[in-house]
Amino acid sequence: MAKHLFLLPGDGIGQEAMGEVRKIIAHMNDAMSADFVTDEGLVGGCAYDAHGAAISDADMEKAMAADAVLFGAVGGPKWDSVPYEVRPEAGLLRLRKDMELFANLRPAICYPALAAASSLKPELVDGLDILIIRELTGGVYFGEPKEIIDLGNGQKRGIDTQIYDTYEIERIAGVAFELARTRKNAVCSMEKRNVMKSGVLWNQVVTEIHKAKYSDVKLDHMLADAGGMQLVRAPKQFDVIVTDNLFGDMLSDVAAMLTGSLGMLPSASLGAPDGKTGKRKALYEPVHGSAPDIAGKGIANPIAMIASFAMCLRYSFNMITEADNLEKAIATVLDQGIRTGDIMADGCRQVGTGDIGDAILKEFAGLSA
Ligand code: NAD
Ligand code: IPM
Ligand code: MN
Repeated sequence: MAKHLFLLPGDGIGQEAMGEVRKIIAHMNDAMSADFVTDEGLVGGCAYDAHGAAISDADMEKAMAADAVLFGAVGGPKWDSVPYEVRPEAGLLRLRKDMELFANLRPAICYPALAAASSLKPELVDGLDILIIRELTGGVYFGEPKEIIDLGNGQKRGIDTQIYDTYEIERIAGVAFELARTRKNAVCSMEKRNVMKSGVLWNQVVTEIHKAKYSDVKLDHMLADAGGMQLVRAPKQFDVIVTDNLFGDMLSDVAAMLTGSLGMLPSASLGAPDGKTGKRKALYEPVHGSAPDIAGKGIANPIAMIASFAMCLRYSFNMITEADNLEKAIATVLDQGIRTGDIMADGCRQVGTGDIGDAILKEFAGLSA
């Protein structure tokens, strides 16, 4: 049965990185009899330029109907002054909310060849393999009220609201415990129960569901600020980290640098399995943004985007061998010393986006032949 992929490359380096995934999809259709059917839409600043919204209703419908969405990146200085409601980032937030993609999986894996590219000492990150599970449809990102009000005395007040309900915490903790069982069986839950009521509830609900259903998994709790510190002090102590939307955003950028570059970190955003078919809505996106400083130069690292497609093969289509092979191809190319500028090291060969994409495709084709 045809597998429908909806591609939303977005702005800046999102376009460049998606180009490398298109090549891989074309190869899989031509040489490996895969049956991907692709369609493309606009999201972010380019969508705003075309129709005054960060994503059109028509593209939103296509995203909802697709088997999986591949997303590049959005944003850039060109749209700094557009109204808040239609800023490029609003397109991504709408996709996450309307598709109910509550579980964001952000693996931070340090490929052996890149241990020296991390800002930490190689021995701290060599062999690193952690999975950050970020709650993606709740918390302060979406809580109401969310506004700036005029206090009438020359002062204004900016308001964001952090809200978490039991069911939201339960379902994200469930994803963390289930995935931990397939890994090193350890979950660290991060919140700030010392300051935030939502943190107190988060801690209680995670503890309760652990006791009721997942007591075989090792569970620790950490205050999120201390968690950030531990991530750069001794990152290998973690297996799965589960945390809220905002803490997860920040902690995953921290974790990205452990792996050498933001250009290395993929992610999967998943909904709940459908009661009848078991299928999940899913969107796959690199953790990095549109990188306006390097956009259009052909030097962006496409690995986060390619690795996001590998996650798509694994989680949406159960194409485990193909996903493993694509990840192996990335590792091999890094072992060969082929690098983009962000992960460049002594003795390596610096190439552009298209060249490293081609090298990965060549290795992948060899493994799949
Ligand atoms: P960014 O991730 O775009 O860039 C941060 C730094 O990392 C830059 O120096 C950039 O050159 C570098 N970098 C990022 N990805 C890279 C890659 N693949 N290869 C090489 N270098 C890479 O973050 P920012 O500068 O804070 O944000 C720029 C814009 O992107 C903003 O509008 C922001 O809102 C948006 N943003 C979008 C997403 C997304 O679409 N998912 C994520 C983060 C930021
Ligand atoms: C991310 C990004 C987004 C977020 C922005 C672009 C809305 O930083 O995916 O990490 O804050 O979630
Ligand atoms: Mn972020």
